[in-house]
Amino acid sequence: MSSKLKLGVLISGRGSNLQSLIDATQDDSFPAEIVTVISNVPGVAGLDRAAKAGIATTVINHKDFEDREPFEDVLHDALNEAGVELVCLAGFMRILTDGFVSRWLDKLINIHPSLLPSFRGLHTHERAIEAGVRFSGCTIHFVRPAMDDGPIIAQTAVPIRHDDTPDALAARILVEEHKIYPLAVRLIAEGRVSIEDSLVKIKDAVNPDGTTINPEN
Ligand code: GAR
Repeated sequence: MSSKLKLGVLISGRGSNLQSLIDATQDDSFPAEIVTVISNVPGVAGLDRAAKAGIATTVINHKDFEDREPFEDVLHDALNEAGVELVCLAGFMRILTDGFVSRWLDKLINIHPSLLPSFRGLHTHERAIEAGVRFSGCTIHFVRPAMDDGPIIAQTAVPIRHDDTPDALAARILVEEHKIYPLAVRLIAEGRVSIEDSLVKIKDAVNPDGTTINPEN
């Protein structure tokens, strides 16, 4: 039996972050494998990406449920049945209740397209440009009950250009998202990530060189 960490990826749409995880897991030396992809929206492109890679997919349409809890019960059972050990939210656009988050505590991670704790929620790129911050970026974090909250595993900073548009910034950040998600999963799968006093510690982390100034001179 495979000793790789078993991932369940939850999506709601395009699935480009899912694709980055699929691509990473196709390398034999990657220490995790995707055992199921679950979408809360039928017919999305991410489901096709998973099917093309030969990964089992399930649609659990939240609209079929009157409340969040019964939807999440079905989701929880599907993840368990697939043997999932780490749940990766990848553009999963449903808020999860405290109950679900506590059932998967420290086994549930999310990618968010900003430098958290700045710009939680939606329209992150518009808001970052309007706020005049010089950097935005992306964050991988353990999920806690509050939206886009929880111990931060990894972040990448992306400079905001003087003539930036939300779409252009989103595209540059997305390129970094696709690098940072497989990295964070690998660190977890290698057993190098722990949480101490609500902060993530990474064993044998490599220090990045230098500093970054924006604008450059
Ligand atoms: C990504 O940019 C992801 O960071 C964001 O949705 C996009 C999904 O794209 N997630 C959130 O905003 C969650 N708060 P994808 O479906 O191509 O991976």
